[in-house]
Amino acid sequence: MPDDPAPDPAVRALHRRLFRSGHGQVSEDEAAALAALIRRRRPRRVLEVGVASGLSTLVLHTALEATPAPPSTAPPRLLALDLDDRFYADESRPTGWMLLDAHDGAVPPGVRLRTGVTTVDLTDLPEASGAPFDLAFVDADHKHPWPALDALMVWPRLADGGLLLCHDLSLYRKPRSARGVGPKLLCDQIPAELRVHPAEAGDNLFGLVKAMTDGAFAARLADALLLPWTVRRLPEGPLAARITARLAEDYPGTPVADAFTEGLRRTRAMREGTA
Ligand SMILES: C[S@@+](CC[C@H](N)C(=O)[O-])C[C@H]1O[C@@H](n2cnc3c(N)ncnc32)[C@H](O)[C@@H]1O
Repeated sequence: MPDDPAPDPAVRALHRRLFRSGHGQVSEDEAAALAALIRRRRPRRVLEVGVASGLSTLVLHTALEATPAPPSTAPPRLLALDLDDRFYADESRPTGWMLLDAHDGAVPPGVRLRTGVTTVDLTDLPEASGAPFDLAFVDADHKHPWPALDALMVWPRLADGGLLLCHDLSLYRKPRSARGVGPKLLCDQIPAELRVHPAEAGDNLFGLVKAMTDGAFAARLADALLLPWTVRRLPEGPLAARITARLAEDYPGTPVADAFTEGLRRTRAMREGTA
């Protein structure tokens, strides 16, 4: 499905000023595509998963602020999550420091920055309650099965017709990123007619429009969870129990919670040499 962004000089200029190679940030074209999607879709509730320096958070916020609100709607809100409270490429800086630097050291109104959390915690976050998200941008752990798990955790909290955008689809092609197959395995489960590939963004950004039921989505992603996992540390113990409980609660009557347990069992057995 084409979803062509128009040029966005302000976001491009911001990106050129702040982009640093090795900081895991979206590219300039991807930033422009994010801004164009916001301008076109005018989302009111946006979720970002994976903040790091905060460049993509700043792009999302800048685009939201620059987009006129539809009549009689609340101001836009952006919830940005990251597992780490320090920026992974420079631990002397907090996660989201570029967003903070651009706003006199404070998180700007309309943005909530939550660290130490993953999408598994979404149901427990007050900022994630209420109206569903219109747009979610996932750019966190790219090792399988995290992108699929992030998608599964976000999907029930996405509005019908909302857009789930994922970064780093083409990471698997890079010689040094053998484990980064998660976005590709997620994308491959989604029917082509439901995918969005923002034209200017190259082949690294893809989106899924929420136009199928939660149950149908879960049934597709259950297949991905059965494929070999590439995470370094398996989500075991209490985290595995929480993920299983979430999947069972969000997707009753689907195979996805069992597929998570089976994927974990298979991956553990392969690593132990018993599979
Ligand atoms: C590629 S960086 C994000 C880059 C950012 N979106 C940008 O373009 O500027 C990935 C971030 O995801 C965070 N992360 C890793 N695993 C995560 C998880 N399971 N949930 C949430 N965040 C996670 C890392 O701490 C890191 O800051």
